[in-house]
Amino acid sequence: MERTQAAERSRIADPGLAPEGAQRIEWVARHSPVLNRLARARLGDGALSGKRIALVVHLEAKTAYLATLLAETGAEVVVAGSNPGSTQDSVAAALVGRGIEVHGVHDSEPDAFEADLMAVADSRPELIIDDGAELTTRLVRHRSDLVPGLRGVTEQTTTGVHRLRALAAAGRLSFPAIAANDALCKHLFDNRYGTGQSTLTAILRLTNRSAAGKEFCIVGYGWVGKGLARYAAGLGGRVTVVEVDPIPALEAHMDGHRVARLADALPDADVVITATGGVEAVGREHWALLRDDVLLANAGHHDREIDVETLDAVADRVEDVRPGVRRYSLAGGVRCYLLAEGRLVNIAGADGHPVEIMDLSFAVQALAVHHLASMRLEPGLHKLPAELDSEIARTKLAALSIRLDELTPSQRAFFEQWQA
Ligand SMILES: NC(=O)c1ccc[n+]([C@@H]2O[C@H](COP(=O)([O-])OP(=O)(O)OC[C@H]3O[C@@H](n4cnc5c(N)ncnc54)[C@H](O)[C@@H]3O)[C@@H](O)[C@H]2O)c1
Repeated sequence: MERTQAAERSRIADPGLAPEGAQRIEWVARHSPVLNRLARARLGDGALSGKRIALVVHLEAKTAYLATLLAETGAEVVVAGSNPGSTQDSVAAALVGRGIEVHGVHDSEPDAFEADLMAVADSRPELIIDDGAELTTRLVRHRSDLVPGLRGVTEQTTTGVHRLRALAAAGRLSFPAIAANDALCKHLFDNRYGTGQSTLTAILRLTNRSAAGKEFCIVGYGWVGKGLARYAAGLGGRVTVVEVDPIPALEAHMDGHRVARLADALPDADVVITATGGVEAVGREHWALLRDDVLLANAGHHDREIDVETLDAVADRVEDVRPGVRRYSLAGGVRCYLLAEGRLVNIAGADGHPVEIMDLSFAVQALAVHHLASMRLEPGLHKLPAELDSEIARTKLAALSIRLDELTPSQRAFFEQWQA
């Protein structure tokens, strides 16, 4: 698309911010070996050329680099942020400067955010790269006329995959969708190491507090919770895990963490981090249990995971005390500090996942969208083919100059027979 045409169609904060955004995207390009080697080679075969692709993921530099690679294939790419809190205006401006249509302004009000997503829908996407199924569910609910034109969706997050499953159960998933989150090269690294590192660094950067010796309460011990616990412990914190499922709860115990009910964990907690993928994991009945000075942060997809509305309602006083840090004065002289307004703290309160992690996640997304464009998949939820997952890991290892052994013929034969 022409740069002026992209500018006319876009809604961004300030085109003048483009140079700063371009610099951020260049940094990502420099540190993305898997996208640069594997994805670039694979995407260049013409399968995406001329395809209309909607990319609705947290709008920051790593996402922008994926958008750039997709646009280089000749696809018509339209971009929006999946959460206004994480949209970086300089990056949005840089994308428009590269001739890509963008709808996203940092901290937009809910109505403006809705309008942005519907503007992306108006581009009649054939392929969607989604986060939290934010665009997909809106298309199904509000623009069902566009659904027959959908060749496929690829979904980034655990929460989004839950929503697609619910859509399938309701008989409304009438198009193919790839659960990119379920690819090993996504959740093993992104949810665990990426969220673990970036959430802890975001909390420490926002507050300038120390982790060593602190009591961390991690709510939810899925892939994200495991990463949070690992990094919190690695920084010298003591971890209590809260779970509702006995299997991850037992895993947390075996991993060396205390496991407790939330009501028993909160009175000791210095830092509470939610990672359940649900809503109201910490809410109305818990505010009276908080200890003074506690930090509250959310790493899950939804900003209702910490029930901010009820916290607002019970607080005597609410003040912003640092960028991204809001103090709530509660009964009995207790003060708690909510980070990044309860949005995903690592993305809304910092730069999100490390570049190397998103190199893997977006390689999954790039190969998934290419797979959807190259094959005619049946409607329903699909996995990324295992050979593509392996190829991503192999490319990453090669970029690190790590070499692997191979099975000898007799070792392979042993695994393939049942008699021996
Ligand atoms: N911040 C980020 O950058 C980032 C990255 C990846 C995923 N996510 C999001 O993080 C969330 C968790 O992802 P995941 O992959 O770990 O999911 P998961 O399904 O593997 O784990 C969630 C865990 O939370 C537990 N749980 C659910 N409700 C609970 C409750 N009320 N109390 C205690 N435990 C509860 C479940 O039993 C499960 O073990 C999702 O919303 C996902 O989209 C965020």
